[in-house]
Amino acid sequence: MASTWQKHDMAFLNGHRLRRSRQAEWSRAMVRETVLTPSDLIWPLFVIEGQNEKTAIRTMPGVERLSVDLCVEAARAARDAGIPALALFPNTPDHLRSEDAAEAYNPDNLMCRALSAIKSAVPEIGLIADVALDEYSANGQDGLVRNGEILNDETVEVMVRSALVQAEAGADIIAPSDMMDGRVAAIRAALDGDGRANVQIMSYAAKYASCFYGPFREAVGSGSRLTGDKRTYQMDFANSDEALREIEQDIAEGADSVMVKPGLPYLDVVRRARDAFNIPIYAYQVSGEYAMIEMAGAAGAINRDAAVLESLHAFKRAGSSGVLTYYALEVARWLNR
Ligand code: PBG
Repeated sequence: MASTWQKHDMAFLNGHRLRRSRQAEWSRAMVRETVLTPSDLIWPLFVIEGQNEKTAIRTMPGVERLSVDLCVEAARAARDAGIPALALFPNTPDHLRSEDAAEAYNPDNLMCRALSAIKSAVPEIGLIADVALDEYSANGQDGLVRNGEILNDETVEVMVRSALVQAEAGADIIAPSDMMDGRVAAIRAALDGDGRANVQIMSYAAKYASCFYGPFREAVGSGSRLTGDKRTYQMDFANSDEALREIEQDIAEGADSVMVKPGLPYLDVVRRARDAFNIPIYAYQVSGEYAMIEMAGAAGAINRDAAVLESLHAFKRAGSSGVLTYYALEVARWLNR
């Protein structure tokens, strides 16, 4: 009786059993659709003044801000592990932050000194320079502020000047992370006009106004200054059609690659962008995502290492060309083993 029921019920399988190929590791490896390699990983570094100086970030356990000399050492380690590029973020000293964010285009600012030190010591690694005013402004906003309004075109002018000093210092890729309109075209034109046609632009094209940036703002020292939010320029997290428009626009303006940010909660946007455009699409596993994995791991709620690998594979599966992740060096070393 039981056997008749079984035969009847399983007939719909028509001989197909998807579990068949999952029975052994060799077989799972054969049918695996995505592979994570060190060249998928971009490593963000936080730069501080000083010599042989590192400081802890309370909300990002395991990540430290590094002085320029230690950034050079980190760059060597990254190169040796097969990481293609670093993304640099300065923690500008307080006395250099101002309403006009003029430190952003000081050719001798912390960012530029880090870029040139790494470029001359480790020329094989790509250098991605973040361009946004929050790392230099008195108020933690990514744009110039007048009467409470974030100014678009005036901000773009400052960003252009910032990008030019960064390129001069050795940046290979300029990465505007601000979401002002028109900044990709303006930066492209300025770079070309300055004889820097080979400097790339990786645009933070679909960047959402997100609570997941909290720990980053502690890391670069902008969080305690910020009043209000960034919702007049960063995107509403309820939207994804609009993300495609942002990406389309940045491609039209001359971006070489685009980014979706945050990462894991926005993989639907990565997938839509991958299906719609033929351009490298990066995703940023942001500071809050890092903190969640670290803190859940430390609390014994999840297996931390497994969560790191699973999350990074998810980025690849969704169609990311690569991932900016604070785990880059550690994971590249795992993958090389
Ligand atoms: C600066 C910038 C931010 C991040 C990267 N560049 C913060 C923000 O926009 O407020 C966030 C990165 C992270 O959270 O890891 N414009």
